[in-house]
Amino acid sequence: MLKLLLKKGFLIDPSQGLEGKYDILVENGKVKKIDEEIFEPEAEILDVEGYIVAPGFIDIHVHLRDPGQTYKEDIESGSRAAVAGGFTTVVCMPNTNPPIDNPQTANYVLEKGKKVGLCRVLPAGTITKGRKGKELADYYALKKAGCVAFTDDGSPVEDSSLMRKAMELVVQLDSVILDHCEDDKLAYGAINEGKVSALLGLSERSPEAEEIHVARDCILSYRTGARVHIQHITTELALDIVKHFKDKGAPVSCEVNPNHLIFTEEEVLHSGANARVNPPLRTRKGRKALIKGIQEGVIDCFATDHAPHQTFEKELVEFASPGIIGLQTALPMALELYRRGVISLKKMIEMFTLKPAQILKLPYGTLREGSPADIVVFDPNKEWVLNEETNFSKSRNTPLWGKTLKGKVIYTIKEGKIVYKDK
Ligand code: DOR
Ligand code: ZN
Repeated sequence: MLKLLLKKGFLIDPSQGLEGKYDILVENGKVKKIDEEIFEPEAEILDVEGYIVAPGFIDIHVHLRDPGQTYKEDIESGSRAAVAGGFTTVVCMPNTNPPIDNPQTANYVLEKGKKVGLCRVLPAGTITKGRKGKELADYYALKKAGCVAFTDDGSPVEDSSLMRKAMELVVQLDSVILDHCEDDKLAYGAINEGKVSALLGLSERSPEAEEIHVARDCILSYRTGARVHIQHITTELALDIVKHFKDKGAPVSCEVNPNHLIFTEEEVLHSGANARVNPPLRTRKGRKALIKGIQEGVIDCFATDHAPHQTFEKELVEFASPGIIGLQTALPMALELYRRGVISLKKMIEMFTLKPAQILKLPYGTLREGSPADIVVFDPNKEWVLNEETNFSKSRNTPLWGKTLKGKVIYTIKEGKIVYKDK
């Protein structure tokens, strides 16, 4: 069927300032027309009355673990989790094995993503060879092979001179650095340095570990003109720094992981190692600052940092692998903020669509006529439980495991094809 007609949904497309009841006609994988009422006898009709319709979500920070750690996740299981969460485009982090520091591995990720055929899987290349922080990767070759950004995510780049060189090259390529900001020597431990680490006697990661790198890389962005996107920001001071450099005109942006907006370090007391993530869950005060950062526009977008690990890797907090899965929980968590009156639905959708597209200069996250028909349809009120039956990831490392979540994706459509349908 080449034509699909979505009838009577409540469309929110921030890229066009559209908010209201509209029909959407899709033809040959592209948005053909949006209007209050469309008749098209040849089209397959999808009745989406009572649901919210938006551009397909974009997640610029996911770990698919493929190649190399496919017992945690692979491109197929990760793609299934992505479309079940409403994502039609994901950017795959290069801390795979081998890392995406060469065109062959980038090509493997792209091709496998296409073969699976659910969401668009775009690779990010490493900043340094082997993510070792010593030598720059070949950005020209990686970009040519399809890498949409560069990052050593999981590790910081400690050498400031190397980072400056990386930025100079990124300017020439009109690409962007996705920046994991944590000073290695200050962020050596398991959880946030604070009340809970003291109580449990756990090793620590300090807020200044993050802030020092955010400051350094905002300065380097300001000096070099490189687009620098700060990943998973968590502290008030880090936000102040980003705001300062945005105000000065530096091309910096930043993302927030919904887990940092919902949980605090105290979650470690309830969920143990499933609440261990880098940078760590922080304080209530920090969480408040993040919410203000969203409201004031300092934080640009959501990104899940979907980081699957197996149960045996999550036994003791002190020795556990850091990370939380997030592709299927991001929308319910963001909707929770909406219900608390923190953000509007329009703002929420903008942070899942238009903003990440702009940061990476991707032609998605919009339903303008002629755009790829990447669409999500969701019910903001439908309740469901994240468990063996509903989870598509190979891993289950989240404090939300077994919990009832509110907000469910009903359809995910990529280039006009239904890639996920709620049961
Ligand atoms: O908690 C994290 N897990 N933070 C990162 O930056 C990397 C990620 C992973 O790869 O597991
Ligand atoms: Zn990271």
